Amino acid sequence: MSDHKLCNLSDIEDGNSAAFTAEFDGKTNMVLAVRNGERVTVYLNSCPHTGAPLDLNEGKFLSRERKYIICSTHGALFKIEDGYCISGPCRSSSLEAVPVTIKNGDVLIL
Ligand code: FES
Repeated sequence: MSDHKLCNLSDIEDGNSAAFTAEFDGKTNMVLAVRNGERVTVYLNSCPHTGAPLDLNEGKFLSRERKYIICSTHGALFKIEDGYCISGPCRSSSLEAVPVTIKNGDVLIL
């Protein structure tokens, strides 16, 4: 896979999250993205607990204080920086990271 544009950086509010679909690995994938300034972390939108999407409200992936990614189904909490689950039924597992880079204001899937 190489350089598929996911979105513009400005499509994700700073300090917040958004949902996208993206073509890579030969299929359409649901992903979630969290932005912190010029940094964006992207994961497959699939909870390690059941495989369900994490957002019951589309695009809302962050806990109330915006410190963790939260699964709305059973409340698992994941670290934003590496997707590691610190609490909930899938504790100690991780979200699957999607490597991205930012170029000229575009978020590109590597
Ligand atoms: S489906 Fe995500 S915590 Fe159960």
